[in-house]
Amino acid sequence: MKTQKPLHVATPVRQSLALTKLAGTSVYIKLESSQPTGSFKIRGIGHFCKTALNESIEFGMQLVANNPGWIFISPFDDPLIWEGHSSLVMELAVDLEEKPGAIVVSVGGGGLLNGVVEGLRRVNWADVPIVAVETYGAHSLNAAMKAGKLVTLPAITSVATTLGLVRVSAQTMKLVGEHTVFSEVVSDQEAVRAVDHFVDDEKILVEPACGAALSAVYSHIIRKLQSEGKLAEELGPVVVVVCGGNNISMEELRKLKKKLGMM
Ligand SMILES: Cc1ncc(COP(=O)(O)O)c(C=O)c1O
Repeated sequence: MKTQKPLHVATPVRQSLALTKLAGTSVYIKLESSQPTGSFKIRGIGHFCKTALNESIEFGMQLVANNPGWIFISPFDDPLIWEGHSSLVMELAVDLEEKPGAIVVSVGGGGLLNGVVEGLRRVNWADVPIVAVETYGAHSLNAAMKAGKLVTLPAITSVATTLGLVRVSAQTMKLVGEHTVFSEVVSDQEAVRAVDHFVDDEKILVEPACGAALSAVYSHIIRKLQSEGKLAEELGPVVVVVCGGNNISMEELRKLKKKLGMM
């Protein structure tokens, strides 16, 4: 293979003064929106492709007599995807001066959450709680945690379409039984409002899927978890994974706000 360079870049993590002020506790943003593809997804997919490319030489030689085969790369349900996503936590372990008080992620199929748990275990931060945020109508993790087993949602009705997996991965279900995960669900309006505020506060435009994670601050979920005693009052930095997303523009944001009766 010509290059061993990963396809993703190490992204910045920095304190957000606006979010810190709102949350009343130190909030850091891990800017996956600055990946070349605009989202964290390249970590897992890139790792998967690089590994599959190693393997594909053998396959290619075996299959050369036939048509080349296609491989299906699940965007969230494969150990290589989780291992790729875990690099995000490795970077945090290098960049942060102290252990995070919590990590906030959006959940679709659960690949990001799986990778974050794997990363936390690798850097000996397995006791760092995760706040897992979904939107109503794409709340497959929340439904599963309430039922105590995997649940298939009848349909996806949320505008956060990239969270639109009707069922989370079995690994996610297993991990929420082993790791402290607080599952939270916000409305589409809350997710889109978070996107809107984040553009003003940080000048970064993200998808509603990412707005869901940002709602942890904008909809005061961190404060609520603290008042419920689930998160400590004196908390290390809360890291919001700004997972990014490309399926957004200022025009699309305007349309979403109109559709949701927000303007
Ligand atoms: C921007 C964004 N955030 C969050 C997710 C959810 O990730 P996962 O399916 O790994 O839970 C996705 C999935 O496509 C996404 O594009």
